[in-house]
Amino acid sequence: MKVIITLDELRAARQMLEGPVGLIPTMGFLHAGHISLVRRAHQECASIVVSIFVNPTQFGPKEDLAAYPRDLKRDLALLTPEGVDLVWTPTPEVMYPPGYQAWVTVAEVSQPLEGGVRPGHFRGVTTVVAKLFNAIQPQKAYFGQKDAQQVAVIRRMALDLNFPLEVVVCPILREPDGLAMSSRNVYLSAEERQAATILYRSLTTARNAFEQSERDASRLRSIMMGVLNSEPSARPQYVSCADPNTLQELEIIVDQALLSMAVYIGKTRLIDNLILGEK
Ligand code: PAJ
Repeated sequence: MKVIITLDELRAARQMLEGPVGLIPTMGFLHAGHISLVRRAHQECASIVVSIFVNPTQFGPKEDLAAYPRDLKRDLALLTPEGVDLVWTPTPEVMYPPGYQAWVTVAEVSQPLEGGVRPGHFRGVTTVVAKLFNAIQPQKAYFGQKDAQQVAVIRRMALDLNFPLEVVVCPILREPDGLAMSSRNVYLSAEERQAATILYRSLTTARNAFEQSERDASRLRSIMMGVLNSEPSARPQYVSCADPNTLQELEIIVDQALLSMAVYIGKTRLIDNLILGEK
């Protein structure tokens, strides 16, 4: 496993890789969710590249960029047994040279939900992911359903900008009690960690209603909100029942729907989602 920092080294090492090449973009502080993407890539690719870069441009001015958890040594130890070929850990100066002004934006899908409460977030994500695609030129790129809107935005970008690669989406890895794995879970105190199970309970309560034929989206949104409000330390930011591709809020579910939410538990902001009507 080669660990690479500069663009020149990356290009030289990339040329030596046998295809298909699979890319797993990450911000590090890896957990089993990230590793599940690496393992999926293993099944489908001859070579695997993992990028680790805490991307400053996707954090808002009041967000946790400086505090975002980092532990490169531990990340490399987790990746070593996974048969990864290259780990690219660019510096902010490599990704954003002085005077930087080139941005990639996806207009509509970036607007609602996360985009509504984190202005500029997806501009940062699409810009850095486009740069990773350009630098690494993978045939397949792996993303988690955990970040459902990120998946929709990146799919749209790959299609619209003719990136010659396949976007592969992998299921959400959860703790035994249902909490979606996230690098941010380390911020939770023991009590908050317990309270955080309310997100998945809220989603599964709405799914039960859907399975008992509830198709009214606003009804499902209030079911989710009701469950969240039963937990005193949970402060919901939004709940949504939307079209999984356009992310527009639905009135009636005809086929599939994406249930999603952002909830503060104490100072920690957690997101989770679930797709209804998946075949
Ligand atoms: P990060 O939060 O590190 O996540 C990297 C990838 O791991 C994303 O595709 C994310 O959806 C996936 N992931 C996280 N938790 C998961 C879980 N519990 N189960 C399955 N997959 C999970 O997402 C980002 O980084 C950044 O926005 C990035 C795409 C790297 C651009 O900077």
